[in-house]
Amino acid sequence: MIFTKILINWYSAHKRELPWRETKNPYLIWLSEIILQQTQIKQGLPYYEAFVSKFPKVQDLANAKETDVLKLWQGLGYYSRARNLHFSAKYIANELNGEFPKTYKELLKLKGVGDYTASAIASICYNEATAVVDGNVYRVLSRYYNIDTPINSTKGIKEFKTLAQNLLPKTNIGDYNQAIMEFGAVQCKPANPNCNECPLQNGCKAFELNKVNVLPVKLKKTKVSKKCFNFLVFLSNDNKTILEQRTEKGIWQNMYQFPLIESSKSLNKNGLKKHLEIKSFLIDDVHDISLYNEENIVHKLSHQHLHTKFWIIEVQSLPKGSIPISKIREYPVPILIGKFIEQFNF
Ligand code: ADE
Ligand code: SF4
Repeated sequence: MIFTKILINWYSAHKRELPWRETKNPYLIWLSEIILQQTQIKQGLPYYEAFVSKFPKVQDLANAKETDVLKLWQGLGYYSRARNLHFSAKYIANELNGEFPKTYKELLKLKGVGDYTASAIASICYNEATAVVDGNVYRVLSRYYNIDTPINSTKGIKEFKTLAQNLLPKTNIGDYNQAIMEFGAVQCKPANPNCNECPLQNGCKAFELNKVNVLPVKLKKTKVSKKCFNFLVFLSNDNKTILEQRTEKGIWQNMYQFPLIESSKSLNKNGLKKHLEIKSFLIDDVHDISLYNEENIVHKLSHQHLHTKFWIIEVQSLPKGSIPISKIREYPVPILIGKFIEQFNF
C-alpha cells in the first residue's frame, strides 16, 4: 500500500484549496463533481460559485426554471448534464423529501449520476469505500502499474475499477480519491508529467520501462465521415424512371437505387447541373430539376453519415433500361430509398 500512502501524503502537502473541499454537503459535492466532469477546475470554479450562490440548497435548484439552470450552465456545453442536474434536484426535493441518497447504490439511481459521480459523493460525503475512476485515475494507474489494457474497453473499465478499489485505504477514502485525481491533474499530467520530481517515481513501472508517453492506451473511435448523396429521380412523360443496380461491395451490394452522384460537399442546383454535364446525363431534354427535400435526409451508418438529397428531374423521354414507375416497388432498395418511394407516392 506504499502507493496509497505516498498519494495521501502528497495530497496533504500539495492540495489546492477549493470551496468544495471545505464541505461534505452532498448537494455541493454533487454540483462540483458534475461541473468538473465538464471542465477543468480553474474554468469550473466560477460556475460552481454561481450555482451555489443562486441555488444554495437542493430545494432552490428544484424550484428553478429550467431556462435559468441552462442559462447558468451556458458555456459549459453538454446541456443534458444541466437538465439531469435539475431533474434530479426536483426528484430529491419532491420524492425524497429533500434528503440526499446516502449510499453508492442509491446515488446511482439518480439521473445523470454514474459510477464516477456516485463513487465521488459516497466516498467524500459518507466515507464509503468506493473508488473513483476518472481520466486522471486511468492515467496514474496505467503508468504506475504499466497496464496497457485500453481504458475505454469493457475489459479495461473493469480492470481499472477493480485495481482502484483494491488500492483504497482503510480510512479517509474521500481524501484518497481526491488525492489520486489531483495527482493526475497536476503531477502525472497527460503531456510532460513531472517524473523527475515525483514521489511515486521509485515504484513507477512506466518510468522504469520508458513507457510514460505511451500510457494510457485508448482505443481509437472509428471516425464517422460525411458523404453527400444526390439521387436522381427521373420522371419521363411516359411515366418511367431509372433504377440502377449497385454492384460495388458494401452493405447495399446488389440493391437498386436511383442514379447517384456522390459529392464531398452539399450540392445546390447549379452544382448538380455541373455534375450532370460531366456525367453527360440526358441533359438535352430536361424540362425541370427540383429538389424534393429542402433539408438533407441524414442516414446514419456505423462509419458514415449519408447526407442525402433527392432531385426530381423531369424529362421528355428516357433511354432503354428505364423502368415503368408502376413497377418501382418490385425492386429491392435500401431503406433510405424505400422511404422516399413511399413519401413521394409514385
Ligand atoms: N476532479 C474532479 N473532481 C475532483 C476532486 N474532487 N478532486 C480532484 N480532482 C477532481
Ligand atoms: Fe507519473 Fe512520471 Fe510519477 Fe510515474 S514517475 S507516476 S509517470 S509522474
